Amino acid sequence: MSGAKRLLSGMRATGDGRLHIGNYEGALRNWVDLQDQGHQVFAMVADWHVLTTAEPGRNLAATSREIAKDFVAAGLDPERTVVFRQSDVKEHAELTLLFGMMTGIGKLERNPTYKDMVQDIGGAERATYGLLGYPVLQAADILLYRPYGVPVGRDQAPHLELGREIARTFNSRYGEVFPEFASIIPEDESRAKVPGLDADAEGRLRKMSKSYDNCIYLAESDEETAARIKSAFTTPSKMRKTDPGIPEGCAVCQMLRIYSPDWQNQWQEDRDGIRGCMQNKKELTEALNAHLRPFRERRAELTDERIEAILQDGASRARAVASETMDEVRRAMLLV
Ligand code: TRP
Repeated sequence: MSGAKRLLSGMRATGDGRLHIGNYEGALRNWVDLQDQGHQVFAMVADWHVLTTAEPGRNLAATSREIAKDFVAAGLDPERTVVFRQSDVKEHAELTLLFGMMTGIGKLERNPTYKDMVQDIGGAERATYGLLGYPVLQAADILLYRPYGVPVGRDQAPHLELGREIARTFNSRYGEVFPEFASIIPEDESRAKVPGLDADAEGRLRKMSKSYDNCIYLAESDEETAARIKSAFTTPSKMRKTDPGIPEGCAVCQMLRIYSPDWQNQWQEDRDGIRGCMQNKKELTEALNAHLRPFRERRAELTDERIEAILQDGASRARAVASETMDEVRRAMLLV
């Protein structure tokens, strides 16, 4: 990418809002790099998107603050990057409503993420209008800022494609308001797919995910990280140190590969039976806690008041861009 470009991305504030190292490696890290290359990044906390699946009673305001703290602690600089919360910028709702008028239901029903969700919740009868419209809201999130590109993990590719289709439909009906945007997906897949600390019923590693409870959280304490690694999945047939390990199928070895400069040596010793799982776990704990220390220190200093001020400032900067786009949209649609 040559020249400073405007970029937008977002993350859903799920669970208690804390991000794990998979969220960081798969997306956030790339946002920070792009910011540091001089691009204008809009980093959004997608709190409305959480309502497509959340049960009532969840404190979404608090959750949004926690995720925004992780953004800033991970290196997003609120002076340069616009850190904001979706629900603070009402233009997202207006554009979603208008896009809803030009988005076919069939297209939304064919979206693979929607189909998976419907399976999980036990059938389309249980699905809501909001869940079906998830990508329409996401398209509005993006297109309000008319970005050059959207940095995301690979799993978001179908949503971005739908966003592009919505933009094309709008442009062909009402005139060119929305330029094409690019998907910016990290190339380094080994980092983009951080495995979790456990294995599935067949003993295969799977991705790090809150829903599997196999995560290392950026903001947890050193002791919590140590305890999680202690009970992590390793080569099942390696009962003793002298048994040969299979690093390819071991969660701890996979993580060493990402966080330990000495991983090749560690893998060889694991295979050769001259190193045991306990040693791997100890060294991984040290490497990971050292790696996360600066992040954890920065985060501990961020109060609720400070992050709320950052979010409010971000909202007003986001609104300045979003309201300009909405003026053009209303004019193009002959609403004004
Ligand atoms: N769907 C994204 C996710 O689950 C979150 C998101 C919402 C997003 N709006 C966005 C990502 C706009 C990129 C652009 O992570």
